[in-house]
Amino acid sequence: MAEEEIKKGLAGVVVDYTAVSKVNSDTNSLLYRGYPVQELAARCSFEEVAYLLWNGELPTTEELAAFTARERAGRPLDPVVKQVIDVLPVTAHPMDVCRTAASVMGARHELAEDSSREANMAKAVDLFAAMPAVVAYDQRRRRGQALVEPRNDLGYSANFLWMTFGEESVPEVVEAFNVSMILYAEHSFNASTFAGRVITSTLSDLHSAVTGAIGALKGPLHGGANEAVMHTFDEIGIRPEESLEDAAARARAWMEHALANKKKVMGFGHRVYKHGDSRVPTMKAALDKMIAHYGRPELLGLYNGLEAAMDEAKGIKPNLDYPAGPTYHLMGFDTQMFTPLFVASRITGWTAHIMEQLESNSLIRPLSTYNGAEERHVP
Ligand code: CMC
Repeated sequence: MAEEEIKKGLAGVVVDYTAVSKVNSDTNSLLYRGYPVQELAARCSFEEVAYLLWNGELPTTEELAAFTARERAGRPLDPVVKQVIDVLPVTAHPMDVCRTAASVMGARHELAEDSSREANMAKAVDLFAAMPAVVAYDQRRRRGQALVEPRNDLGYSANFLWMTFGEESVPEVVEAFNVSMILYAEHSFNASTFAGRVITSTLSDLHSAVTGAIGALKGPLHGGANEAVMHTFDEIGIRPEESLEDAAARARAWMEHALANKKKVMGFGHRVYKHGDSRVPTMKAALDKMIAHYGRPELLGLYNGLEAAMDEAKGIKPNLDYPAGPTYHLMGFDTQMFTPLFVASRITGWTAHIMEQLESNSLIRPLSTYNGAEERHVP
């Protein structure tokens, strides 16, 4: 029998249609429901983009007001979720905390066993509204700080920063954070979204699919890369007084050594984009603003040095996680919190895909070619 062709990692395999987003690797472009992501990042709030991903259209003023009110009502951390977080050790990775919180929210949801579109939309908005409190509180408890209650006079991004740091952030920082949330929100059939769609295809519930997606996102080949980028910067050594040129030279030397030792450097490369990630220019512009705001040119030196050395050696370009990592570092997030920030954003894309999967569901169940022992019998 002819051997079936194996598509390792499903590379290049088209498994379904989606109307949520379009990734075009030839033009390095990304559209959410038809809108270029860089336009959304420049002109919209993350709340508007979440609404767009779920509903297919940007909200009218009235629709946005109703949606925003609903999101604000869902912000406070459920006391039971807080109790569960409190019994988890601070040595647990924050992604494990996020995953557990999503699971607990599912078990406690009043519509837990209802998979209608209305129920799933309610669950999606609840997760979107509540996850910032989970992430913010988790960072605070690790620092021995108390929970900060949400502020309903602040938008999603400003409130997220408020709950994390217990003080209001300046508009430049809120804006950069909003941009990062929009850029992280959706990216077609990436590994975590596909994991969520696989779980949904069995007619399991939305929270199970999101919990599984969080597990998939944790890995350093996917969302965990934004944390890993910062570990690289730390390994090279961040020296706030250093000149941009000296930092760049040290980063270059580090990269040359890493590549000579066949190391995979996180924050570079992409399965779909081979000539550059569509989201990087927008996120890099936000990083540049944060570097200027915090007066930390040496971080730009490290950034430039790694990027140039990788490009010269292998022609591999940075992905979104590369500028996002140092941006979150400058804002004051602990390195382990970077991937949970990605979760808070991607909940929107995941749940849009979960609802889309259910609209024309077919169980996702591929085949494999057996290459184990020939048939044999118990002696
Ligand atoms: N560092 C060094 N070499 C690399 C890298 C990298 N980051 N990425 C790709 N390569 C090399 C790889 O070693 C291989 O070389 P060779 O052909 O000589 O063996 C070649 O490029 C092809 O790599 P691949 O891993 O087979 O390609 P892929 O399409 O399976 O990988 C990837 C895509 C994202 C898994 C990979 O580029 C990678 O591991 N990057 C680092 C992790 C990372 O930054 N992930 C975030 C992805 S984007 C945003 C997100 O989802 O969070």
